[in-house]
Amino acid sequence: MSELRRAVQADAEAIAGVDVRAWWHAYRPFLDEQRLAERSTEARTESWSLRLPGVEEETWVLEVGGRVAGFASLAPSRDADAEAATGELLALYVDPPAQGAGVGTRLLGQAQLRLGELGYDAATLWTFEANGLARVFYEHHGWVPAPAAVGNEACEVWAPAVRYRRELGP
Ligand SMILES: CC(C)(COP(=O)(O)OP(=O)(O)OC[C@H]1O[C@@H](n2cnc3c(N)ncnc32)[C@H](O)[C@@H]1OP(=O)(O)O)[C@@H](O)C(=O)NCCC(=O)NCCS
Repeated sequence: MSELRRAVQADAEAIAGVDVRAWWHAYRPFLDEQRLAERSTEARTESWSLRLPGVEEETWVLEVGGRVAGFASLAPSRDADAEAATGELLALYVDPPAQGAGVGTRLLGQAQLRLGELGYDAATLWTFEANGLARVFYEHHGWVPAPAAVGNEACEVWAPAVRYRRELGP
């Protein structure tokens, strides 16, 4: 049994667990371990408690067997060069044991649908340059590289990142 639903504040700890496990699993090969270790479940739970349920930002979770298997967050684009009609996929994370089973595809589909319903014509996302699996995944789902000019590196705090874009709607 699975359920796709909007996240509520009570989901903060479960989302933080997925967030931290997915970061370790996917990013350990190229991110600094010391900095990864500072991204604790406790700290992330606190941060998610403040973000949920969100007003401009929406987070969706997919529960499988009563557990949060993954989540996706969306909001208006944070990029300096973004037009008003551009939304952003802020995050998409699937718990490592649940990866490769369609959870990410369902969450991405829902995020794209919601961004369209909210009136955005297009959306962008940032992902680490070295995150090959995710890049192939996004390209498979119609996202194309959209290089950003200097001053847009919102997500470059940890490592070099690349921007992708997708038109929304029918
Ligand atoms: C990238 C990610 C969101 C994809 O979600 P997912 O649930 O694993 O993806 P799905 O099962 O829906 O589809 C993945 C597709 O790529 C392949 N794939 C991608 N990542 C995979 C993985 N870790 N294990 C197995 N297959 C994977 C699958 O074969 C599948 O191909 P198909 O659509 O042709 O069948 C997820 O792997 C993840 O959270 N990765 C780590 C964090 C991350 O990089 N997030 C993106 C940040 S911008």
